[in-house]
Amino acid sequence: MSENILIELKGLTKRYGYGDTESFALKDFDLTIKRGEFIMIMGPSGCGKTTLLNIIGLLDRATKGEYILNGENVASISSRRQSRLRAKKIGFIFQNFNLIEDLPILENVALPLIYSGYSKTARLKNASSALKRFHLQEREYYLPYQLSGGQQQRVAIARAIVSDPEIILADEPTGNLDSRSSHVVMEELKAIHEEGNTIIMVTHNPALTVYATRVINMLDGQIDTDVKTVADQNLPQPISVKIKKKKDNFAALELPESKESRKSRRKNRRKK
Ligand SMILES: Nc1ncnc2c1ncn2[C@@H]1O[C@H](COP(=O)(O)OP(=O)(O)OP(=O)(O)O)[C@@H](O)[C@H]1O
Ligand SMILES: [Mg+2]
Repeated sequence: MSENILIELKGLTKRYGYGDTESFALKDFDLTIKRGEFIMIMGPSGCGKTTLLNIIGLLDRATKGEYILNGENVASISSRRQSRLRAKKIGFIFQNFNLIEDLPILENVALPLIYSGYSKTARLKNASSALKRFHLQEREYYLPYQLSGGQQQRVAIARAIVSDPEIILADEPTGNLDSRSSHVVMEELKAIHEEGNTIIMVTHNPALTVYATRVINMLDGQIDTDVKTVADQNLPQPISVKIKKKKDNFAALELPESKESRKSRRKNRRKK
């Protein structure tokens, strides 16, 4: 079922340096990802895992090859639209949480909604309900350093899901956590996956692969092994199918324009 294909990577290559210093972080990398998969990527340090996530997350570009996202070749999407897609459709979770230190966690979580067209109040309201889901509503005005590592990672997950993205990319999200906090974080990711999100997660911990529906081992910028542990027909129903579609692309999932932004757009037009 081709409509269930979310990501296609064809012959993806990422090269650094030239001549004697030339090296490849990814080499002729082919991968097809269906909606609703929970993929764990493993492999030795330097094999290209972060490079792969960064390219999928539109944070980096391949040197060669094609990246088809939801049927669209990423190379033909303007960088402005790529930023919007990144903010609305892709949630990132990093090993070191990447929270902004001098912003209260409520505002950290609200950040991806900047592109939503919502008013600031609506953005904070949404952020507040995302924090509530992770039992952090009483700490909304704490700064990141006032929270434990596990709590900070839950804030980061709240930030990753606040704009209802379809894809969650997580680069060693439990790498800095003890086993109890890791377990809590993995249970949250599991719940997010069961709601129909596609998750691609890098980990060094083989014990976590029980959460995955597919485990990919990388070696030297290529796929070494690729094992599906859950059959395609048993994956959770993808969220994009649950949402009524206008067109079969990301634009159909964009949030409605807020009253405030509509008003200011009209005002600007009148000024011209
Ligand atoms: N900006 C850069 N310039 C040159 N080489 C780079 C750059 N970024 C990454 N690389 C190289 O690309 C390769 C893949 O790096 P990447 O960060 O993707 O590895 P990784 O699998 O995520 O490793 P780790 O498990 O240690 O996080 C490495 O050999 C790295 O040195
Ligand atoms: Mg890495």
